[in-house]
Amino acid sequence: MATVLSVSGSPSASSRTGRLLRHLDARLTAQGHEVIPLDVRAVPAEALCGADARHPAVVAVSELFERADGVVIGTPVYKAAYAGVLKALLDLLPQHALSGKSVLPLATGGTLAHVLVIDYALRPVLASMGAAHIAQGWFTLDQDITAHEDGSLVLAPAAAESLRHVVDVFSAGLHRIPRPALAS
Ligand SMILES: Cc1cc2nc3c(=O)[nH]c(=O)nc-3n(C[C@H](O)[C@H](O)[C@H](O)COP(=O)(O)O)c2cc1C
Repeated sequence: MATVLSVSGSPSASSRTGRLLRHLDARLTAQGHEVIPLDVRAVPAEALCGADARHPAVVAVSELFERADGVVIGTPVYKAAYAGVLKALLDLLPQHALSGKSVLPLATGGTLAHVLVIDYALRPVLASMGAAHIAQGWFTLDQDITAHEDGSLVLAPAAAESLRHVVDVFSAGLHRIPRPALAS
């Protein structure tokens, strides 16, 4: 079993990205992983805007990253890039906060014109933070995500199938992560 930190990088209270992440958390949990959900919007604004890396909430997030074997990072596309609030948090983490970890990057956007955001914008940031492996990313259009008031989420069939594929490949890689030997 691996520990997966599942990070939604959207500032929106009704975030489709966040709902999507919580949806895939269930699949990772069913596959035997311990999943820790994290919404960037829950980190206090004064810590993010004040670049306060010593804020207890930021320290707690750093510890979650340290504990994780794998990290899912989901972001909405804003202005042809990832969400600024996600970058504000990543900027406060140690330079190599992703060292040794497998990372699954996901993005939701309004237009296929920005389908490459994961590769040209997010992936270089994840690599600079030391990610051991960055899995094939996955982009979906917001119109393919229907979030219902009862908490359920429905994806367009093609989107659902490709999401299942990238999550399952990421998950299989996590099962192969060697666990540190227990101290005797
Ligand atoms: C401020 C803002 C800027 C956006 N800019 C883009 C953009 O440049 N490209 C794009 O494809 N979608 C853009 N969108 C659409 C969002 O990426 C899309 O609706 C996404 O699913 C929203 O996710 P969220 O509900 O988690 O915030 C933008 C939306 C907002 C609110």
